[in-house]
Amino acid sequence: MQDLYGHLISYLRVSITDRCNERCVYCMPQELQEWMPRSEILTYEELVRIIRVGASLGVTKLRVTGGEPLTRQGVLEFFALVREIPGIRDIGISTNGSLLSRPVPEKGGLTMAECLRSYGVRTVNVSLDTLDRATYARTTGRDYLPQTLAGIDAARVAGFGPNEIKVNCVLMRGRNEEQLVPLIEYARENALILRFIELMPVSTTDVLSDGNFLPIAEAKRRIEAHYGGLIPAPHFKTNGPASYYQLPGSEQKIGFIGAMTNLHFCENCNKLRLTCEGKLRPCLGSFLEFDIREPLRAGATDEELRRVFLDVVARKPKQHDFRDNYQPNRRMVAIGG
Ligand code: 5AD
Ligand code: SF4
Repeated sequence: MQDLYGHLISYLRVSITDRCNERCVYCMPQELQEWMPRSEILTYEELVRIIRVGASLGVTKLRVTGGEPLTRQGVLEFFALVREIPGIRDIGISTNGSLLSRPVPEKGGLTMAECLRSYGVRTVNVSLDTLDRATYARTTGRDYLPQTLAGIDAARVAGFGPNEIKVNCVLMRGRNEEQLVPLIEYARENALILRFIELMPVSTTDVLSDGNFLPIAEAKRRIEAHYGGLIPAPHFKTNGPASYYQLPGSEQKIGFIGAMTNLHFCENCNKLRLTCEGKLRPCLGSFLEFDIREPLRAGATDEELRRVFLDVVARKPKQHDFRDNYQPNRRMVAIGG
């Protein structure tokens, strides 16, 4: 699938639930607490059918997100189905990490991380905005820092390698600008890829103000004041839009996801998103969405579902419109945060 701007679409990001066991200020504020009714959420069979159709059109990479994907019942069986889909070669999960170390009784007490690994998940992205327990609790609404760190350890123990565990830190002035160096040290000690992400206006909460926004450029300045000049590593690539740099005198790479300030951010976009209630979205930062659940439940053929994909790809915008006073009407959590 190719869009009007020549982007080859090979990456599908699938949200399997709108629910989460945390309440991050930028994603799921306490006052926005209506879960979708179960009947609105795609079943695993429906998700697999849609992914299969995407794969028949060239989707090779999949990232499973939420909400918190590991809170959905039967999620391991879902991965077992997904790995069998012809054409899907790379499966990742984005998680808050708090459940990765939990033993799964039905799997003989293996941890969730070990089960994911055994079901063919290659990469794990864990959200971690701070190593300070009080700030973690204040930012996520839950005192789960120990569980999240245990989850990252569990992923390593499960066999996820150095480039297969990524830690995502959303930059927030007044919350974590003093945490950049501690997070880099933590990533180094644990051989993790750390990425700093600019806060995006995908949630309706007032934390997304000019006063809270911490641009990548400033984060870089703070990091360089401590370590010296960062060395661009343009050949180091992961699936997404991060730009990577190497720390001087070290092999360690850190990434920057400048969704707001990097004007080239969308240039190599290869992504579509599927929300948990069956909307295909061509771009995170655009209102456009197309319902695929309705035709699916009405008995559409694979060919008809392929049409929906192709229509969505044909309407994929050149770039997101976060910079043009984009006023979102839904939460990140529901669109595959
Ligand atoms: N801005 C930037 N990143 C966000 N995430 C969730 N909401 C936002 C936002 N408003 C991040 C999470 C996680 C990833 C899935 O998306 O921190 O790392
Ligand atoms: Fe949950 Fe992730 Fe949203 Fe935080 S950012 S509330 S962990 S889905």
